[in-house]
Order: sequence, then structure tokens, then C-alpha cells
Amino acid sequence: MSSEEKEIAGFSKLTKRDKIAWIAKNFLYANPVEVVKEFAEYWHDNVEAQKLLDGFSENTLTNFPVPFGIAPNFKINDQIYAVPMVIEESSVVAAASNAAKFWLNRGGFKAEVLSTKKVGQVHFIYKGDGEKLKSFFTQIKNELKAGVKHITTKMEERGGGIVDMELIDFTATEPDYYQLRAYFETVDSMGANFINSCLEEFGQQLEAKIAASDLFNVTEKVIEIVMCILSNYTPDCLVRAEVSCPVDDLGTFDNGNMSAAEFAAKFERAVRIARIDPYRATTHNKGIMNGIDAVVLATGNDFRAVEACAHTYAAHDGTYRSLSECEVKDGVFRFWLNFPIAIGTVGGLTSLHPLAKRSLELLGNPNAKQLMEIIACVGLAQNFAAVRSLTTTGIQAGHMKMHLTNILASMQANDDEVVKAKKYFEDKTVSVSAVREFLKGLRK
Ligand code: MEV
Repeated sequence: MSSEEKEIAGFSKLTKRDKIAWIAKNFLYANPVEVVKEFAEYWHDNVEAQKLLDGFSENTLTNFPVPFGIAPNFKINDQIYAVPMVIEESSVVAAASNAAKFWLNRGGFKAEVLSTKKVGQVHFIYKGDGEKLKSFFTQIKNELKAGVKHITTKMEERGGGIVDMELIDFTATEPDYYQLRAYFETVDSMGANFINSCLEEFGQQLEAKIAASDLFNVTEKVIEIVMCILSNYTPDCLVRAEVSCPVDDLGTFDNGNMSAAEFAAKFERAVRIARIDPYRATTHNKGIMNGIDAVVLATGNDFRAVEACAHTYAAHDGTYRSLSECEVKDGVFRFWLNFPIAIGTVGGLTSLHPLAKRSLELLGNPNAKQLMEIIACVGLAQNFAAVRSLTTTGIQAGHMKMHLTNILASMQANDDEVVKAKKYFEDKTVSVSAVREFLKGLRK
């Protein structure tokens, strides 16, 4: 097959069946009939529900199911939650549930939103006297704000709007480059569309106002808007989650072989390592994101935005570090996380996706601040579970036990074989080859 045959004009115009047929013919030709059948098998029975899902994206062929699980027993600010988690990685939900249960009788999680400011930028080029621009900006700042009233009125009614604006001079690093940075309060919505609409309006107004002002000469009058877009870096949309208890209350670990004090010291050191070494910090933070992304996804929020922000924040002092911190002092174990996260509980998929809606209902229809708190606590719980395993029994024992289910499924084990395999591997190391050998023995 020539590579031209793999090209197509107007793919988006084909019907779903024709799209699948074309893909099967040109890319999945080894077994086209099976492909068509398989893709169709994942369609929703309910035609309306499928139409809704198709509407979220483009060129949709089918759905890609990912498990939706629950981590119960999360005590957060003295309320109990059963937290919905959407994730494909085995052991994440089990670990979160386990950590939730562990802290349930040790005071639970405490969380607090520290700030909720979001950021947007108009990047532009101005070739002229910077001081003139700065004083002009101070003059027109309120006019710019008033000029987006038609966009902000509804948001202001809900308690949000534009918080502040500043002009930043970047000419020392990029010739003629300035930035209008605006700060927003978007209350319970993530606010991306609101922010971007305001920014585009700011851009147009700035261009028009400078062109119309006598302050500027002919060259200065023509600014070039490079782009207007929100920033996913929201260090001032920050939530703090924490657990703490007397060291003695931590109990023993590793089947009684490790005392509470030994554990606390090991755990604290492991977190310290993740504060100083970016290689470890990345994996440590990945563990936090296992929990965070799963709840972000389950509630119909944008996990790419959350991920991008988290990692920038992890490097905010110039070195990429662990997002969580730990302290063992005066006989008390304290473990906490400051996490910047811009999410919403209204708008976007949160109200469109039936399961996202159900997730929010499950959490008691929280507002955005409460959801920030819940998400941060799940991230902290996930991190606690991972570092506890790493510093006690090691991660593989638990991981491979969970992974056994996947290995058995990939080898088409029947129910009886699954039961036997789980029993057999209770005290043995799980590996793909060991499971294959075991099944071979059974199937003889
Ligand atoms: C695996 O998904 C996450 C961990 O690697 C996190 C960590 O190492 O802290 C277990």
C-alpha cells in the first residue's frame, strides 16, 4: 500500500461507519472485519448518550472505556467522602482507599483553599518608549476593565470578575515584548472561556486605544498583538492538604518489624530526598498525580491543565522538587501538600458528561473550593500510600499482586484459573513468566 493511500481529504465528513471502514481498510487491514466489530462493540447502546459523547470531540470512532472506581472512607475536614476515581493503573484506587482508611481514625485530612486567582496574558509587541506605555497603561487600566463589562457582568453577579491587571516589560529578554497580565476570579467555573474572551477583548482595545492616543508617535501607535490566552500556571489558585498525628499513633509497619518512630524517620527522609533530587521528585510527584488526575477526570475537569500547572509549580524556586513535605517534630508526624489547581464544578464537561455529573453528586455537589480540597487530599493520600510502601515493604509486592489480575486477563484465564492463581501467588513473586508457567501447569 502506497503512503498516498493513507492520506485522505474530508475524513471528518464521513459517517462514523465509513470512518471506521476507511481506517480498517487502510491501517488495520490485517483483520478489518474484526476491527469494525470491535469498534462497534464499544458504542453506547443508548443512541442519545452516544451522540453526547461524540459531541465532546471530533472524528470519533468509538469510546475508550477506563475504569471508574471509588475510594471510600475519605475523612476531609470532618466530612466523609466516597471519592470517584477514573484511572487505568491497577493499585491506585486500592492505595488511595488504604491511605484514606489509615487516616480515618487519626483525625482525617485537613484542607484549606489559600487563594483562587487565575491568570491570563495578552502578549504584544510595542516599538517605542516604554515609560510612555507604562504611564498610558496606568491611565487606561480602568477603561480596559470597563470595556469588558459585557463579558464580566454575569461573572460579577456570581462573585467573580477581573481582580487586577498589570503591564510587564520583557524587553530585556525579548525585543519590544510586553505583556498585559490579568488576574481573574472565576468562582465555581474553571473559567477558560471567560478568561480568553476577556483577553481577546483587552487585546483589541489596547490596540485601538494606543492607535487613538496623541501620546504616541506614528511608529508607537502600531502595536502587534502576538497572542491572548490564559496561563495554566496558577500559583495563586492554591490549596493546602495535610495529615498529622502523634508519631506513636502511626502504629507499626512491615508486619510489626518497623516501629512507628522508625517509619516516621524513614518516611520523612524519603520526602526530603524528593525535595532535593529532581529524578526522585518526578516519580514522587507522579504518585501524587495518580490520585489527583483520577479525581480530576472523574469530575470532568481538564487533567492536562492540572498536570502542566503542578509541574511548573514544583519548580517554582528554580529546582524541580517534591510537591509534598513532611516534618517529624516534638513527637508529631506531619505530612502536607500545597497544590495549585484550577478546576470547576460548573460549566464544561462537569455538567455535560453524565458520569462527571454523578461524580459531583457523589461528592455532595461541592463548589470549586471544596473540590480543590478533596482533590488535594486524594493526591496527598496517594503520595502517602506510595511512600509508605516504598519505605516499608517495597512497591512491587502490592503492585504485582494487583497486576496479576491484568496478566491473567491477558492470558485469557477463566474464573477457576484466576482463583487458583491468586491463591498460588499469595506468597510468591508475580511475573509474566511465572504466571504463564503456572497456567501451563494447570492447563496440561
Ligand atoms: C507509580 O504509579 C507511582 C509511584 O512510583 C510513586 C512513587 O514512587 O512515589 C509508586
